[in-house]
Amino acid sequence: MGLINATTTSDFRAVLEKGDILFFPEGGFEIPASVRGALMGASQDARSIHKNIAYKPNVDRVTGLVDSAETEAVRNGMREYSRLALRFMADILPAYAANWKIDYASFRSIEERGRDLPLTKRNDLLHVDAFPSRPVFGDLILRCFTNVNPEQPREWLVSDPFALLGPKEAANAGLARFAETAESGLHKLRRTAVRTLRRAGLPLVDRSPYDAFMLHFHDWLKHREEWQRDCPKYRFDLPPGSTWLVFTDMVPHAVLGGRLALEQTVIVSRASLANPQLAPSSILERLAGKPLSA
Ligand SMILES: [Fe+2]
Repeated sequence: MGLINATTTSDFRAVLEKGDILFFPEGGFEIPASVRGALMGASQDARSIHKNIAYKPNVDRVTGLVDSAETEAVRNGMREYSRLALRFMADILPAYAANWKIDYASFRSIEERGRDLPLTKRNDLLHVDAFPSRPVFGDLILRCFTNVNPEQPREWLVSDPFALLGPKEAANAGLARFAETAESGLHKLRRTAVRTLRRAGLPLVDRSPYDAFMLHFHDWLKHREEWQRDCPKYRFDLPPGSTWLVFTDMVPHAVLGGRLALEQTVIVSRASLANPQLAPSSILERLAGKPLSA
């Protein structure tokens, strides 16, 4: 488990799929001063229901701001970061970019150390990512982070990747229950109903058993005090100006401190991995002995 400097390798897919962090100490791409300027003044309410300021590239919308007068400047800044980060990611990972889905960008403007959040939303507890409103059906969550704080590092803690974590903990977390559900008539009926209602315009989420398990696993890991205390841990301080990429559903991670980070997410198709067997969905399907992500 490590932080791999991008200058030491050309096989970026191998680094990411092994569960390492692909690290660009100099940032990898240029972020114009105008983008930094637009974002540094943005105020985010620490009590907001939104954990971060989010930018949705597909609809060009920003959420999570306190002051709506700032919206235009922040939207411009985040649109530009999103564009630059996506171009950078596509340059270095063309095999993924060929059919990835563009997800949201975010700006993490609040100091993470001592942040008062409900337990399942805490960033300082190790977890794997899963999105309640955006199921991935077995594909993977790849995130590109840039520390735009001019002075302070972003302090990350990570643990062993899914290839080690899954076989140790998925059964304890109740994988069998989710796998059984996958084949029940009631589950299939429910999903058919959800899809019909979605087509009629209702804001319901159609989740695969894989998505349901990963959402549960995210919370289960945060609640499990002994795992949080005893699991292998690797600490990295990501310096000002650096960029790093990681599959955040494959690598358990926590943020202990730091403020002012930008991030762009893409959903990478499992089929475009150099080794699709390393996807968390493949690992769980092997453990369960059945498909979970359809
Ligand atoms: Fe996370």
